[in-house]
Amino acid sequence: MATLTTNLFWGQGERDHRLYVTDGHWPTDMAGSVFVVGPDNRQPGGHWFDQQGLLCKINLIPDRKGRVVVQHRRIKTPLDRIRNRFPKLFKTLLFMEISPFGLSNLANTNVQTIDDRLFIGYDAGRPLEVDPETMKYITPVGANDEWLQSLPGLLEPGISVAAHPASDVPDNRLWFVNYTPMPINRRVFVAAWDLEGPIRRWEVEGIGEFDSIHDIKVTEDYLIFTDLPFVTEPQVFQGLPPSHPNKDTTTMWIVSKADIAATPVGGKVPCREIIVPMPTGHLSVDYANPGGKIRVFLEHIPLQDLMVMIHREEYSHFTGGLMNPNHEGLVTLAVQPGCVGKYVIDGESGHIHESEIAWDDRFWGAVLATKDESSTKARDHQGQLWYTSLGYDPALVPETWWQLYANAGLHSLVDPDELPIEPVPAAIARFDRESMKVAEVFAIEAGAFAHPPTFVPRRGATDPDDGYVVCIIHRDGPKEVWVFDGMDIERGPLAKATAKDFNPPLLLHSTWMPPRPGKRPSSYKIPLSRDLRGATRQFFPLIGGLLKAGKDIAKLEAAAAKAAKAEQAGSPELVDQ
Ligand SMILES: [Fe+2]
Repeated sequence: MATLTTNLFWGQGERDHRLYVTDGHWPTDMAGSVFVVGPDNRQPGGHWFDQQGLLCKINLIPDRKGRVVVQHRRIKTPLDRIRNRFPKLFKTLLFMEISPFGLSNLANTNVQTIDDRLFIGYDAGRPLEVDPETMKYITPVGANDEWLQSLPGLLEPGISVAAHPASDVPDNRLWFVNYTPMPINRRVFVAAWDLEGPIRRWEVEGIGEFDSIHDIKVTEDYLIFTDLPFVTEPQVFQGLPPSHPNKDTTTMWIVSKADIAATPVGGKVPCREIIVPMPTGHLSVDYANPGGKIRVFLEHIPLQDLMVMIHREEYSHFTGGLMNPNHEGLVTLAVQPGCVGKYVIDGESGHIHESEIAWDDRFWGAVLATKDESSTKARDHQGQLWYTSLGYDPALVPETWWQLYANAGLHSLVDPDELPIEPVPAAIARFDRESMKVAEVFAIEAGAFAHPPTFVPRRGATDPDDGYVVCIIHRDGPKEVWVFDGMDIERGPLAKATAKDFNPPLLLHSTWMPPRPGKRPSSYKIPLSRDLRGATRQFFPLIGGLLKAGKDIAKLEAAAAKAAKAEQAGSPELVDQ
């Protein structure tokens, strides 16, 4: 029997809760709110990521009765409303949804804040803005015709924009990566948006092979983005397992702001490409880059495969038993210890001056991390990183994963042959990125886990990393919100709050926002009519492009098959046989 709670995907949709503090004291020097977004799952089944976004807001100042108010609202885009009226027009394909209107922007992956505004990121759609006070959808960022489109749709054509944009606070700007997701005829753009007005894009030259791009960060002089191993092989759509393991390296690309400034919008800019061992989920950087040296921190995810998910016919490699159907949809996250890599890189040459990794055998199955990004000092020089994990459970190692990864000889921290035979509990860990040590690990009771963690600065704090880490605790029975002292995780939670019906589903990323001082500081809004025009104008050209890409892929496959046959025919071993 797996130790992990089975209470992952039994969400309740839009619902408000008032949580009572049942243990400890809720800190009185927190302000603002924690926002979490994720798929609005209400029962197990399908893929964790395949539902419309649900936004959760944890109000950090309790109400007059001392209760912590938690609100949940769906991201009600125009397409979400159409889906509610005409559900039969929509079809779920693994973690995606298609319809004649295009590739649905499920708006379920990331929350990002800048200038008292809140944005939702989704890798296969444009960023969206929501109002942090009302939690209502406001507008997409950029009209359809401002982005590189890759799949046709009447309202939401496929537009791949990395779910994590970079908040350039000194310049009051968001930076994005917009690219074609297909491995043929690749194009990659960096895009700037000044929180008003048009999206400006520049095409990046010199990008090598990659599967997908999920995260971009910014320093005073550079943009840095990394690839994410996320291959969708065609047979996977028919319910068959992937046939290849993910790549075991990270590719980073660095683009100079100076090159962008010297290039007209729409022009081409160069990049430096750097490859390091072990793939990466997310990254962080110091905004300051003295002497042109960039300090980059990569959250490595060795042997992790977001396409190998638990389903009803999946067997556990170690127990031989069928997986619990309540875990259906969970992806293979927990097969290695959590690991952070530090790389000091010359922004101009791409030369790596320093590299170092930190991990701890008490901390397995890392999922998401949080950092202090609330002040100039904290952004300029990254200090602590708080990471939460699912732990490790041999009963949750899928046979499909084992077949792909056990003997693949890929970069890892612990060889698959040496995986623990006993479960390792879920935990919250503090990585000290100065000493590159795992400074603290707090293990959570068997079966429960914290996800996601969110750093909240102490009100009036003057030093970076002075604050709290707020987590939702997923467990059997009512879920909880825990608050840790950021610099004393091992002391355990300072406060626990819950209510008997509090049962949010497993969501994804989170962020902290201070209270908004007034009204939304913008009237930016893309009219629906412009979006429709931008989508329909590209509809037939994109279909033509897809047909051509299909022919190109068929030609490449035929050439590869021919080459393989010729190699076999000329192979001395085969001749000897
Ligand atoms: Fe992410």
